[in-house]
Amino acid sequence: MVMFEKQTDSENTLMRSISADRGFNGDIMRIGVITPGGDAPGMNACIRAVVRKGIDSGIEIYGINRGYTGLLENDIIPLNKRSVSGIIHHGGTMLKSSRCIEIRTDGGIKSASGILNNHRIEYLVVIGGDGSFVAANKISKRSGAGIIGIPATIDNDIYGTDETIGFDTALDTAVESIDKIRDTATSFERVFLIEVMGREHGFLAIEIGLASGAEFVLIPEVKHDVRKISSELKKYNKSGKTSAIIVFAEGAGDVRETAEKLESYTGFPARVSSLGYIQRGGTPSGRSRILGTLFGTYAIDLIKRKKKNRVVVVSKCRTGDIPIETVISKEKKINLLSYRTIHQTAGIF
Ligand code: F6P
Repeated sequence: MVMFEKQTDSENTLMRSISADRGFNGDIMRIGVITPGGDAPGMNACIRAVVRKGIDSGIEIYGINRGYTGLLENDIIPLNKRSVSGIIHHGGTMLKSSRCIEIRTDGGIKSASGILNNHRIEYLVVIGGDGSFVAANKISKRSGAGIIGIPATIDNDIYGTDETIGFDTALDTAVESIDKIRDTATSFERVFLIEVMGREHGFLAIEIGLASGAEFVLIPEVKHDVRKISSELKKYNKSGKTSAIIVFAEGAGDVRETAEKLESYTGFPARVSSLGYIQRGGTPSGRSRILGTLFGTYAIDLIKRKKKNRVVVVSKCRTGDIPIETVISKEKKINLLSYRTIHQTAGIF
């Protein structure tokens, strides 16, 4: 196929007629793309890939603004190649997102399904986390629309994939912040507890701990004993280590209460720094952009092969896909070797 330099709408139409991908009823296929969950850097690269590859495949692409809230409000716009120019390096999502309670109800699923059917949208590309996929699966059952899930969340907690879009950027952001906090920790000889995101999982916390050289990482998946940590800190102190970095996953408990206990058990000054929402933003890393682009183009390939209700994954450096039912019914397990390595390399003098 000859690629046109600067495509105008008429050339787009010509492209479509040459290579139109037909929907189930012979019309030009229409797909919707939506980013309904927590935003993640690299989502825009993914949207860009879905739109560019989709249009080149003769598919009509519709953007659904503001996640499931926008879907329920019929906030749906046609996208063309120009719609996604100049976004690959922007964090967040050009389609915006929302936390939508209504989509968790039967009524919400019914309305969303009707709106998709009215627009003759046959596929929904859902760029998000497991919560987004659960709702999408219900919409698929009700509307008949096919779902292609693309794992995008800084939490990296999606079953079946080694990595999710945005995780790599969040990791770098957190490590850069902890490197800065380390300066004041050593200057003031303090113990710092750094609270990081990750919802109910410790995937992000473990990698942050490894990369930042933390002495401890506290995660929801492994019960921790503050008294045991306190006696370890005293041993470190005796060996000449006068400050410490403890990465605290937000799902592991109350970080401030833990800091108070550590201070009272050890006598060492303890401070808390919660990184919060900076972990969700910023320009996506090269890795996050590449993952977004590869996942987005792979999603279109699945649609062209008329595959339905699959989630795109990366496993051992290869992009593939698994059933959405498998992804939403199984829990990803933490890498215990990585978790243990943190304490083995904590640098006790
Ligand atoms: O799922 C991504 C995430 O950033 C979690 O790590 C965090 O717990 C949650 O979203 C915060 O949700 P909200 O943006 O609704 O406050």
